[in-house]
Amino acid sequence: MKTTTPSAVQLEDRPTQVAEIVAALTSVPRRIPSKYFYDETGSALFDAICELPEYYLTRTEAAIMRENAGDIAAEIGRGAALIELGSGSSTKTRILLDRLRSPAVYVPIDISEEHLEKSAIQLRSEYPELRIEAVAADYNFDFNLPRSVAGARTRVLYFPGSTFGNFQPEKGLAFLKRIRTLTGRRGALLIGLDWFKSTEVLEAAYNDSAGVTAAFNLNILSNVNRIAEGDFKSDSFRHYACLDEQEGRIEMYLVSNEQQTVSVGGTTIEIEKDEAILTEVSYKYRPEAFLKMADQAGFELERSWTDAERKFGVVFLRSR
Ligand code: TRP
Repeated sequence: MKTTTPSAVQLEDRPTQVAEIVAALTSVPRRIPSKYFYDETGSALFDAICELPEYYLTRTEAAIMRENAGDIAAEIGRGAALIELGSGSSTKTRILLDRLRSPAVYVPIDISEEHLEKSAIQLRSEYPELRIEAVAADYNFDFNLPRSVAGARTRVLYFPGSTFGNFQPEKGLAFLKRIRTLTGRRGALLIGLDWFKSTEVLEAAYNDSAGVTAAFNLNILSNVNRIAEGDFKSDSFRHYACLDEQEGRIEMYLVSNEQQTVSVGGTTIEIEKDEAILTEVSYKYRPEAFLKMADQAGFELERSWTDAERKFGVVFLRSR
């Protein structure tokens, strides 16, 4: 069979997750690790964010991919293993899969096992010739690549969606270095990045008028409740997102509407009225700043593509 795949689950165990959540919630400032956004509801809400008029990122990136699909596929070359980090519904990947010349294997990696399984099944019916080996894993930790990857001519890591911006810069650099060990020499990283731009455009993207981003942000509390036996009431918090121009990043918070006591993983937490819990940061790099980081990690720029307004970049980096 061409397309079989047992999806290996390489997620942290429950006690580790609970400890991580409690530690983040009791740190200063309070935080919730953003990977807990992506339970099944969260993944579906994120798909809805990608369709919002204000959230230009996904649309712009997909347009860049479509317009340059031939060029991008040529850079990737024949017989490559395409490994996608945070594959979600693999929507943008289809643009590549339609153009790639005899890919060895497509490895979608995602933290949401249910979502991953569903989209792998869907992909298999659309690409019956393609070998697909899904891996359920948190790519922030080490994970095993399927054996078929070793036989490929090159390894191309695909990291779309400007998710790189969700790392603190030191973590981002460490991530690039780790990716560099996965690509090997003469491998590649194809990455999508939202470039720094005006406050109005950036803030609107994280404060949509339909309230989908707010629902997405608040949903993290239901997931925390489920994982860590918490009793967060999502209607006692509100979504808040703003640009920190100095840091060059969007910050996303859940702000408490009232003074309240919450229990999570057996720990009691006192939250003040208007106290904010940081749920996500989204760095918006300038191209030069990003390329400098990539260089430090052992990657050099091969080619990059952008839209007419230079909002978003798709960058193809080759490993030294
Ligand atoms: N990677 C996405 C981004 O930074 C994640 C995201 C989009 C997000 N909208 C959000 C995270 C709202 C939290 C809340 O653009």
